[in-house]
Amino acid sequence: MSTDALPPTHKALVQEVYGEPLIVKTVPTPQPPPGAAIIKILYAPIISYMRDVYNGKRKYPYLTPLVIGTSAIGRVAATGSDAVLLKEGDLVYFDCTIRGRDDSGAIILMGLSQGFGEGSKKLMEGEWRDCTFAEFAKVPLENLLQLDESRLCGSPADGGLGYAPEQLTWILQAMVPYGGLRSIGLQAGETIIVAPATGAFGSAAVVVALGMGARVIAMGRNSEALEQLKTLSPRVETVQITGDVQSEVASLKKFGRIDAFLDISPTEAQNSTHFKSAVLSLRHEGRVSMMGGLLDDFPIPYRFVMRSNITLKGTWMYTRADCQAFLGLMTTGVIDVRKLVQVVEMFKLEEWEKAFDMAAEHGRLGQIVMFAP
Ligand SMILES: NC(=O)c1ccc[n+]([C@@H]2O[C@H](COP(=O)([O-])OP(=O)(O)OC[C@H]3O[C@@H](n4cnc5c(N)ncnc54)[C@H](OP(=O)(O)O)[C@@H]3O)[C@@H](O)[C@H]2O)c1
Repeated sequence: MSTDALPPTHKALVQEVYGEPLIVKTVPTPQPPPGAAIIKILYAPIISYMRDVYNGKRKYPYLTPLVIGTSAIGRVAATGSDAVLLKEGDLVYFDCTIRGRDDSGAIILMGLSQGFGEGSKKLMEGEWRDCTFAEFAKVPLENLLQLDESRLCGSPADGGLGYAPEQLTWILQAMVPYGGLRSIGLQAGETIIVAPATGAFGSAAVVVALGMGARVIAMGRNSEALEQLKTLSPRVETVQITGDVQSEVASLKKFGRIDAFLDISPTEAQNSTHFKSAVLSLRHEGRVSMMGGLLDDFPIPYRFVMRSNITLKGTWMYTRADCQAFLGLMTTGVIDVRKLVQVVEMFKLEEWEKAFDMAAEHGRLGQIVMFAP
């Protein structure tokens, strides 16, 4: 589809007023300026807690009116004049993490969060406001990852991996913990605690850490979900979050030397014991990746952290280099989730309420709910 073949209008899921119900609207289809592409959205995954983002409960900062959304799988429909690699028809993964071109510290999650500064707010106010819960989206060229479609989706008889394109939306769940795991330099052969490990991002973290060659101790409250994680590999151990730091530390320490800990707590885990237990179980020079969504400040075992030379590293999302490296793990088959990733259901934009409810109930290992606009 060239620029003159783009439809003049398309459908999009819009929030007019912060926290208020969404509406499907017909909106103008933009033309691609230099530096951008227009993608046709094929599959846009719904994050398990999106209902609580757009009803205001999670207090995400964003401007309205807004075409909401997140990262997605699409096809390039048209490119700006400066595109040198991407071409019409390419299967792409769009990464919603947008950075200021003149200030890489100004970051927004397109359709979701305006970030934390004046620069990022300006980004969301302007060019990169409207996201992927729509038939088309205008996105920065550098946020598109060209997918090797014949390798990823081709038939195994022809050297392909045989993924259904919609399964590739799992990249959204996996890229986030990959960013945190890379940020603390997780090495093959190391042991890492992932907690809580039973949600969508948490369970993806277990899969990714295994793919990076680590042994994983998965911590969580739900014993059934922990058992499911154990089936992934003999390199998965599990520890129940009991609310008692001493017993949690004792259970963790049974597994010997622990090198690292990825925390991916949701807002609701503000008072959970797992953070303290996991930190106290680390070896000298252990590393902690803090990726959780806690809204309030949080006590740390300061003396232990100081005495044990522990590194605490916060990470929001990931870098572009992480994206390419992760795609390499998927394309080479080092991380193989063909049997694991299950599309629970696909929805039309008009079905957004049902879709958000379904996503909230299916945030477990390998599960994905999505829009196919
Ligand atoms: N830093 C980043 O770039 C980044 C990016 C994306 C997401 N995040 C954050 O990651 C968080 C986790 O995402 P998620 O997909 O795993 O899903 P989620 O739906 O936000 O959280 C569900 C997970 O949290 C556990 N949980 C809920 N309440 C808890 C409590 N009171 N104590 C202990 N555990 C509790 C659940 O355990 P049960 O199974 O026992 O219910 C489940 O494992 C998100 O909330 C978000 O804030 C961060």
